[in-house]
Amino acid sequence: MMRPGGPLKTPPSGKLPPRPAGGSGAAGARAGDPDAVDAVDAAGDAAGDAGSDAGAVRRAAPSASARSRIPAFDVMRITDEIARRRAAGRDVVSLCAGEPGARPAPGTLRAAGYTGPLGTTPLREAIAGHYAAWYGVDVDPGRVAVTTGSSGAFQLVFLAAFDPGARVALACPGYPAYRNILTALGVQVVEIPTGPATRYQPTPELLDAAVAAHGPLDGLIVASPANPTGTMLGRGELAELAAWCTRSGARLISDEIYHGIVYAGSDAADPRGVTALTASPDAIVINSFSKYWGMTGWRLGWAILPPDLVAPMEALASNFALSPPAPAQELALTAFIAESYAERDRVVEGFARARALILDAEPELHWGASAPSDGAFYFYAELGEQLERFPDSVAFARALLEQADVAIVPGVDFDPIAGGRSVRLSYAAGEPAVAEALDRILRFQRA
Ligand SMILES: Cc1ncc(COP(=O)(O)O)c(C=O)c1O
Repeated sequence: MMRPGGPLKTPPSGKLPPRPAGGSGAAGARAGDPDAVDAVDAAGDAAGDAGSDAGAVRRAAPSASARSRIPAFDVMRITDEIARRRAAGRDVVSLCAGEPGARPAPGTLRAAGYTGPLGTTPLREAIAGHYAAWYGVDVDPGRVAVTTGSSGAFQLVFLAAFDPGARVALACPGYPAYRNILTALGVQVVEIPTGPATRYQPTPELLDAAVAAHGPLDGLIVASPANPTGTMLGRGELAELAAWCTRSGARLISDEIYHGIVYAGSDAADPRGVTALTASPDAIVINSFSKYWGMTGWRLGWAILPPDLVAPMEALASNFALSPPAPAQELALTAFIAESYAERDRVVEGFARARALILDAEPELHWGASAPSDGAFYFYAELGEQLERFPDSVAFARALLEQADVAIVPGVDFDPIAGGRSVRLSYAAGEPAVAEALDRILRFQRA
């Protein structure tokens, strides 16, 4: 029988939550595992035979589903630890969360009811208008689904597009929630190991190799700019991946959440990033108000769907979420006015200055290979000679937090295989925080 779920390259076992207490036998059986249910029933029958329950069917106590056995997002755990340390009076500089500091003022909001499951018509139209303004692409507002952050879009899109047991490829290192949501939904994750040779992005050759090793793919997720590396796909590279997906009958899902946070300059060919809609009309594009607009807490994102997925998404969204949040949708309309774009572009200029501080400090840091930080606000690098003093990036990050009060993220969240050698710095915190953190890191390394 095909076993749905579980990445084809499994994360280190230490990262998974423990199985429910009870160990072996009936008490340790898991819901959803047919063999385990048989064992539970047999145990119940045996107990009944002994006369202890007077015929009642005894089953093991309910336990968490196999689908929920995925690692937690380490960044959020570290965020908690930062809050605890700050509450204890420590002056912690955090280069941890991918969260821009400056947020638009909320204004006055009325009590709000549900909206349509795929969002309000004005917002769906405004999002379609954004594609015309930034990319010159014509999008039917009926194909726009507004969601609770891009995270909500991933859940609904994966449910709509893939059945349990389907196979979906993604780049490693990559944003961990792709892997973990797919796993929770019983979809097989095919990790494509990437490195500097392909700028940490998948290529048709790497996809062919994945098919040879694991079988045909039902989907490919790309992200450009990517988290944690910040690397981007050019127009030609994205077109090649889209053509590969069309030839192979795989759906292309493009996470464009960091569009607009790009350092190529305004006279570059694609100054905001390349949308997959220019490469394939069937691509599923996912985006959000969280990053360029800095509206993380409003929980609003969207998907541009191919026509065959609009009705399934509507069915799923209307059951799972009823509607995206109405006040957030009202506020989000102001994201698309000229003043908002101008304000957010100034914020991106600040990210660019913070990025320059890190790139300038790179020779002094004496770390190893780093990804070209083309976009987003991340710098991902191997630790190089630091790994002579520390067994891995987890130990390095822990010591840095304990001894220098600087929080960075070890690479293991993004790359369960080789992430123990790398760290991610988020420069979303801005220039002064980055300058202070670099100072402390250099002092920590010299100590
Ligand atoms: C690549 C990527 N996609 C999606 C998300 C989820 O963002 P949200 O749900 O706030 O839209 C993040 C958050 O850090 C991310 O880095």
